[in-house]
Amino acid sequence: MENIKAIRGFDDVFFEEAKKFRFITNTFRELFRIYNFEEIILPIVEYKELFDRSVGEITDIVQKEMFVFEDKSKRVLALRPEGTAGVVRSVIENGLLYKKPFLKLFYEGPMFRYERPQSGRKRQFHQIGCEVLGLEDPASDFEVIKLCFEAFKMLNIDITLEINSIGCPVCRPSYREALTSYLTNVEGLCKDCEERRFKNPLRVLDCKVETCKDLTKEAPVMLDYLCEDCSNHYKSLKTYLDTFNIPYKENPRLVRGLDYYTKTVFEFIKDGLTLLAGGRYDNLIESLGGPKTPAIGFAAGIERLMLFTEAKSEEPLYTVVYIEDTKLEAIKVANELRKNGKRVEIILKGSNLKKKLEIADKIGASFAIIIGPDELKKGIYILKNMFTKEQKEIKNLGDI
Ligand code: HAM
Repeated sequence: MENIKAIRGFDDVFFEEAKKFRFITNTFRELFRIYNFEEIILPIVEYKELFDRSVGEITDIVQKEMFVFEDKSKRVLALRPEGTAGVVRSVIENGLLYKKPFLKLFYEGPMFRYERPQSGRKRQFHQIGCEVLGLEDPASDFEVIKLCFEAFKMLNIDITLEINSIGCPVCRPSYREALTSYLTNVEGLCKDCEERRFKNPLRVLDCKVETCKDLTKEAPVMLDYLCEDCSNHYKSLKTYLDTFNIPYKENPRLVRGLDYYTKTVFEFIKDGLTLLAGGRYDNLIESLGGPKTPAIGFAAGIERLMLFTEAKSEEPLYTVVYIEDTKLEAIKVANELRKNGKRVEIILKGSNLKKKLEIADKIGASFAIIIGPDELKKGIYILKNMFTKEQKEIKNLGDI
């Protein structure tokens, strides 16, 4: 019988990669703490309709990429492809907006999209992200972007921030009209764009196919159509970014692949790959049945960040190597060192001192504390530096 394998695009994460993963999530968690965010933990499965109504029916995510299934009661469910929809659903359902003047929530967890798996693109991937609900001030856009910027600094990733404004229901219709009429005269678009040009024309600007990029080079851009409110919002955001020295590139073709955005959209890009993305969505909460509430958020793709992250260098590993009948003493030593916060492994494998030291080496020990009957009698331990091979006698574990 053949061994069972993991499903394509569903990866196991272990050893160094798992360390990178945690380094990334801990970095964001620390930033969420100092920016005063609270955690929200949400279900992985939601009604499919939630994503139809938020991410949008004419998006790749909903049309092509969702894991959809019926449960035993014939409910149509989906594995969440992203986190924002669930946060908004929960905030409305639990009346959270009535409990606080504004909400700052962060989340972390697996998301699912049926994409073609490749480096940095998985079918099960992980996001860490946040949503700020109830603030329309462009300074809140700035704060969210600043937090991301700090994260990349802490992760030591050199990154490009791209921003754009995609307007609002006041100004977008006239832009959409201009864009649609421009696209009507364009021939040779890819099959997807042929469909998008009438149903979701903004997405044509985002197409990755070279001929489509070329054909739409001269297309009108949203920035030229912004209403006064959107234009002022965008200008203020840029002023904050300039004032606090956050470098950015304006990309008038940045439109994002989800329908709920208004005004500010942004992406943090490295070598052509978007590692983190977000934007404002001032109408989503109302459109899902909640009170009219402005909002902004982002999500970072943890697997993508991992491609550019070095795991932090490790703290030293202390091993306890014992001979003959000193196992109990070895356990006591380990207990004591752990109480002092040291990372400790008792070498429980290997039949003699030599073998135990070899094993200690193989698991990456920095030090071995060697105990045998002679040492026990004298009330000492031998501390061996596994790199220099130096050995010294110590009396007190506190001296380690
Ligand atoms: P998104 O751009 O669809 O936005 O995804 C955010 C990030 O998730 C991407 O920039 C990428 O790093 C990562 N990502 C997406 N798909 C995959 C995949 N198949 N494999 C690995 N990583 C992936 C959102 O999801 C919005 N909810 C962000 C947001 C929050 N906007 C406002 N609030």
